[in-house]
Amino acid sequence: MSGLFSTSTTTPESSNIPIPVLGFGVYQIPGDKCIAACKTALETGYRQIDTAQLYRNEEQVGTAIRQSGIKRSDVFVTTKQGLRGDTPDDTYRLTSESVRRIAGEEADAYVDLFLIHTPYIRGEAEGRKEVWQALEQLFYEGKARSIGVSNYSIDHIEEMKEYATIWPPHVNQIELHPWSQQRSVTAYCKHQGIALQAYSPLVEGTKMDDIVLRKIGDKYAKTPAQVLIRYGLQKGWIVLPKSENPHRIGENYGVFDFEIDERSMKELNELDDTS
Ligand SMILES: NC(=O)c1ccc[n+]([C@@H]2O[C@H](COP(=O)([O-])OP(=O)(O)OC[C@H]3O[C@@H](n4cnc5c(N)ncnc54)[C@H](OP(=O)(O)O)[C@@H]3O)[C@@H](O)[C@H]2O)c1
Repeated sequence: MSGLFSTSTTTPESSNIPIPVLGFGVYQIPGDKCIAACKTALETGYRQIDTAQLYRNEEQVGTAIRQSGIKRSDVFVTTKQGLRGDTPDDTYRLTSESVRRIAGEEADAYVDLFLIHTPYIRGEAEGRKEVWQALEQLFYEGKARSIGVSNYSIDHIEEMKEYATIWPPHVNQIELHPWSQQRSVTAYCKHQGIALQAYSPLVEGTKMDDIVLRKIGDKYAKTPAQVLIRYGLQKGWIVLPKSENPHRIGENYGVFDFEIDERSMKELNELDDTS
């Protein structure tokens, strides 16, 4: 067994803030359903939740954590912003409102990780700079324990050197699974000490009948979803499956009692022939 436990964490070299290797994504889980799903996930053992302004459920994530009775410091919460305000102050206001929605009004309220959701922000380079500077302000104020980017290419990360006082970003969250391995950007991030978060690790549920996944699942008495999550963990990624179904929330957590051998990892690696 490769030493991966449900309590395992990845610590980006650049931030020193440990991130649980398995997280819970809440994209497209609305309102009350989000509270219920997060509570089920927390009861199951997940200690990381991934939300965003775009998902319109930051408040519900915060409510679920408080209602779960689990200490705030034991749960790692990520959010993301993809919009720029009309002025730099306005942009900062948008970020700080996220912290308030998730963690409340107290002076010591914080999120564990705040990401720029996408490089495609109004004003392009100028917009990316403005949102990053708002995140840096949050970081220096202690309202975001770590900060990073999402959907960033190597060029986008290099561009940040022109203005960032915090570089490299602590995390890059991108689409990662056997059919989207993004080899160049993942190698670059590894080299720079940027942790990789894998979104859509279940390929949005579209590959559950894939013959390679099924064969490897049969070998370990695991489901295709469990194979996909375990694959991401063994690649060294922080994996963020989403489910609003209590049974599947549990299933997706059942990934710490088996290890995919080298031969099957190679088969999965070969499913993506891009660079
Ligand atoms: N940064 C970004 O731009 C970005 C983009 C996309 C996603 N994300 C993050 O990554 C998270 C996960 O990505 P995602 O939501 O796109 O897709 P995903 O996790 O790859 O797949 C979710 C889909 O798979 C289904 N599913 C879950 N568990 C399953 C299982 N065991 N067996 C069969 N089907 C299963 C879900 O349905 P049920 O809910 O009905 O179980 C849902 O339809 C998001 O929630 C979000 O937090 C970030």
